[in-house]
Amino acid sequence: MPAVVVIGGQWGDEGKGRVVDFHSQYCSVIARYSAGNNAGHTIINDRGKFALHLVPAGIFRGEKACIIGNGVVIDPAKLIEEIAMLTERGVSTARLMISEHAHVIMPWHPIIDRAEETLKGDLAIGTTGTGTGPAFYDKVGRIGIRVADLLDREFFAWKLRNALEYKNRVLQDLYHLPPLDYDTILTQYTEYGERMRPYVADTISYVQDADERGEFILLEGAQGSLLDLDTGTYPYVTSSVPASVAAGGAIGVGLGPTALERVVGVYKSYQTRVGNGPMPTEITSGDEMVMLREGTGGAAGTGEYGTTTGRARRVGWFDGVLARYTARLNGVTSVALTRLDSLSALESIKVCVAYELDDQRITTLPPTLRAMERAKPIYEELPGWGQDVTHVRHLGDLPTEARQYVRRIEQILGVQVDMISVGPERHQAIVTRDVFGGSIDV
Ligand code: IMP
Ligand code: MG
Repeated sequence: MPAVVVIGGQWGDEGKGRVVDFHSQYCSVIARYSAGNNAGHTIINDRGKFALHLVPAGIFRGEKACIIGNGVVIDPAKLIEEIAMLTERGVSTARLMISEHAHVIMPWHPIIDRAEETLKGDLAIGTTGTGTGPAFYDKVGRIGIRVADLLDREFFAWKLRNALEYKNRVLQDLYHLPPLDYDTILTQYTEYGERMRPYVADTISYVQDADERGEFILLEGAQGSLLDLDTGTYPYVTSSVPASVAAGGAIGVGLGPTALERVVGVYKSYQTRVGNGPMPTEITSGDEMVMLREGTGGAAGTGEYGTTTGRARRVGWFDGVLARYTARLNGVTSVALTRLDSLSALESIKVCVAYELDDQRITTLPPTLRAMERAKPIYEELPGWGQDVTHVRHLGDLPTEARQYVRRIEQILGVQVDMISVGPERHQAIVTRDVFGGSIDV
């Protein structure tokens, strides 16, 4: 049976959480495969509103196995906090599993994350400051500490001593910051290890066995494809290894690429970005910016503010050039289009269909950062629908103009739109084709 990957087609915050939440009803295993707690999913269900950073969104479907895969980096304090929050609100974490291979965010990582942003000057990325980037490059630098290491006291003591000696040199000599104390970290992280121990497992074998038994496995992407280290808008990207694009899903849980048969691409009906970097279709002032940022009628909680950092997101028109690029990059087989309702108040809606770059019309990603900054969007303008759509549950009940907008996006992506969200609640969605071929139960 296939594994299904759910990825973000833009710069993150496309609404993957609710799409994963929906599809997870058909799967028995739900796994996160990359990134760290720089990611944030908002999920609204009958228990209320939840912000998740590490635990897979499948946790709300009680009987499913939820895995934090080998490709994820874990801040233990944040994970323990998240587990406590879920438990307190009556959500069982009994079926949560943490990969013993996952890397651990250590106390020096957030410190270096922030210090480095300052040192980078104009090259600052606008990171989330969570230490995720530095944890990934310690992984690549082969000095990272993995979850399994925390569970072996003697080994951890030895590894920490060596790693900290090096990191304290970096903190003091490079950043002129005070050193960190070995004993404090040893005690604290040994304690974290013990708190995580009940969840730690050989998740690679678990996922492989589930695949062999023919179970559906859902791989939950974090961030968006345009933030991918290799194929995104470098250097304004995130540091996840494996990639945040769909192909990374196989590596990040320990499956072969042939296991990935379906890819759900989640696209917001417009464009947002947090952090620095070029965004050709950005709107920087005026009513349209406010409308897009504040969401449906400005209702509390629906606005464009980061789940992790609370930062206001940059907003703009749907960028068809980038969207088609990421659809092909990920091998998207099914599209979920989110927040269509946020466009309802607009008189007309623009869609970027090409860029003008140095007097040429192009429809591909500009090759360099400078070219990307020079690229001017070429827009097509579509009529708005001027009415509320949050109650619509069938495609046929959408206003003609809204259907026209959806169809245009379908044409640009070259992939069918199977799900449209029209509000933040679980049931506020239009599902036109079930990617699992089963019954449709929103
Ligand atoms: P980092 O991942 O914290 O190093 O940040 C690198 C870039 O990715 C910054 O522009 C962040 O704002 C962005 N980023 C990281 N995680 C997310 C996310 O979950 N949603 C949207 N943007 C993100
Ligand atoms: Mg997010």
